[in-house]
Amino acid sequence: MNKTVNLEIQPSALSDADLSEPLTYPVDAFISREYAAAEREKLWPKVWQVAGRVEEIPEVGNFITYEIGDDSIIIVRDAADQINAFHNVCAHRGRRLVDVPAGSNGARGSKMRFTCGFHGWAFDTQGNNVHVHERQDWKGCLTPERTALTRVKVDQWGGWLFVNMDPEAVSLAEYLESAASILNPFQFDKMRFKWRQWVVFDCNWKTALEAFMEPYHVAGTHTQMLQHGDYYAYSAPFGLHGVSGFDQRDPDLKMKQSSTITRAGKGADPRISTYNLQNEIYTTVNFASTTETLVNAAKRLVDELPEGTPAPEVIKHWLASARADDAARGVEWPTITPEQMAQAGLAWHVFPNMAILQGITFALCYRARPYGDDPNKCIFESYAIERFPEGQEPKTEWVYAEATAEKWGMVLAQDFSNMGQVQLGMKSRGFRGALPNPHQEQKITNFHRNLGRYMGTGAPVKL
Ligand code: FES
Ligand SMILES: [Fe+2]
Repeated sequence: MNKTVNLEIQPSALSDADLSEPLTYPVDAFISREYAAAEREKLWPKVWQVAGRVEEIPEVGNFITYEIGDDSIIIVRDAADQINAFHNVCAHRGRRLVDVPAGSNGARGSKMRFTCGFHGWAFDTQGNNVHVHERQDWKGCLTPERTALTRVKVDQWGGWLFVNMDPEAVSLAEYLESAASILNPFQFDKMRFKWRQWVVFDCNWKTALEAFMEPYHVAGTHTQMLQHGDYYAYSAPFGLHGVSGFDQRDPDLKMKQSSTITRAGKGADPRISTYNLQNEIYTTVNFASTTETLVNAAKRLVDELPEGTPAPEVIKHWLASARADDAARGVEWPTITPEQMAQAGLAWHVFPNMAILQGITFALCYRARPYGDDPNKCIFESYAIERFPEGQEPKTEWVYAEATAEKWGMVLAQDFSNMGQVQLGMKSRGFRGALPNPHQEQKITNFHRNLGRYMGTGAPVKL
């Protein structure tokens, strides 16, 4: 455990405490071709990154590919309890083993044997070479090591498959701390896809991801939400990762409102405002960020509780009845203490390119990555995961969905409407660098602090 994170990663001049000071960073990270090229050398080959969900490869031989820059990685189930990852390249003369459509978000399929389309060399699901056409021509020099596929580190957390191309990388468990420990009570591994969609945006991958890293934008972007709640946020770094949640600006509420599902909403009657907030979220965030069970239980609050019931009692009753409703249909809730809920806050950034907005039985997640070598484009993916009764998990596929409210819901479409405009605006000669909110946007400054460590840029700096 005392192995430091990667020797090539620079220390930052900024401490955690410094992140609450006004900081700035330049726009290169978003618009420069040189910076994007440097990311391909210094960032992507060094970090653990989420390649998919375990549920995508349930059977032996099932595989997915993960595309990042010029690298393509095959993640394949080799046995019930064994998953392997390899660079997607034939050991002979370098043809990709699995064809991945250009600009797609990856290939998927099922094979026990990966046969190269060029000269027919073949490999098993452990990466061993199992066939070389006319092997004798190499005069006995082809060792198993020289002809095997090149391994990539792969590990799991929360039902996600993570890969790391650096053979010297620290373990995934160490890399994810302390985000993983704080989020483990949610048992994301018990959740399954509800929907999953992707799209190509005209912006840098960081521009897209950062649109989901702070609730500070709610007042300016999601104005319709303001009638249902207060969105003043806290944010905090946790090593490479970061968290944000709703702050207790209103002392009269006398309860921690860190998460979507411990909020009573805004209004005189918490029985009504709890329902209004949940219903608003469910119908405008593409049936994610809460669940049908929670919305329905909230709808009954006016019938089940007397007028004047204080907000903490309303929340307690609501969660208990939703829990019972779920139990009746075979969905068990994990045990999460109020302290654990509060510490987990609303949403996490997992360095470098993953965001998780979590609840007791659900999560809304995002991933953004470069599109080719263009700093002005990215592949953006979002998906909802939820606990379902066993055997009733929906069958889902990755769907390419244009960035409209019809396809993604009103709230995500509102977020999307900023991205291209931010990318264009950052190129302006008149832009002097970002001014992230020192209280509410520390997740973003922490992201740039850690990017600066990998990239050796030293950003951000004090204003
Ligand atoms: S490049 Fe794969 S068999 Fe020749
Ligand atoms: Fe948003």
